[in-house]
Amino acid sequence: MSWRDFWNGEHSIYVSPRHKLLHYRAIASDLIDHIPAPDAAVLDHGCGEALDAARVAAACGRLQLCEAAPNVREKLRAQFGRIGNIAVVSPEEVEALPEASLDLVVANSLVQYLSPDELKALLRTWHGKLKPGGALIAADVIPPDVSPLTDASQLLVFAWRGGFLTAALAGLVRTAFSDYRKLRAQYGLSTYTPEEMSALIREAGFAEPQRPKNFGHNPHRMTFKAFKPT
Ligand SMILES: C[S@@+](CC[C@H](N)C(=O)[O-])C[C@H]1O[C@@H](n2cnc3c(N)ncnc32)[C@H](O)[C@@H]1O
Repeated sequence: MSWRDFWNGEHSIYVSPRHKLLHYRAIASDLIDHIPAPDAAVLDHGCGEALDAARVAAACGRLQLCEAAPNVREKLRAQFGRIGNIAVVSPEEVEALPEASLDLVVANSLVQYLSPDELKALLRTWHGKLKPGGALIAADVIPPDVSPLTDASQLLVFAWRGGFLTAALAGLVRTAFSDYRKLRAQYGLSTYTPEEMSALIREAGFAEPQRPKNFGHNPHRMTFKAFKPT
């Protein structure tokens, strides 16, 4: 099984429906904070199920939801197909977008599942698709020194605040025996120091990245925001 198969299948990365709901609500709120204008063209790359995408779409001009997993794209189409300013697209369709057509690209919790070469290629793609002055946000990037135990403790803090602590404790036990843990042990996750990530973003043509608060619940992970020079 590869990461791609994992995301395309049924998985229990969210410990309960409430966890999933609160997660996607928080990511949508963080994304909305960065929308530069009500008519902005926004791409959420590696969006997952994007449960709160309707709220994001209401805050921008057009929202493109890009997912590599065909089964997730089907779910997204079923849920958001009727919303006029949402389009569900594959990575290949992102490649085919017109150059300089986007105002904001967000990729939350995606970078760790890409090889360094895949990340470099995507950074170049995003740079090409953004308008001059447009912004890229790569969020929830994992630094090399954060262990799975830190991830687990941050999940428990989130669960305590969100009222799903029991489900989180059970979920952590499930994860210890799951495909996720096996894949994480087998393939690892791509991690970057702040300097490495900033250098890759600059090499793709962006200005020096800013480091806003991380998206979501885990402050040990990192967010980078970089503008395409005008
Ligand atoms: C950890 S989930 C993150 C989902 C969502 N962004 C969030 O923050 O909850 C990673 C998602 O990225 C998708 N993905 C992985 N590689 C991708 C790629 N090259 N292009 C688009 N989506 C990709 C996976 O299918 C999965 O749904």
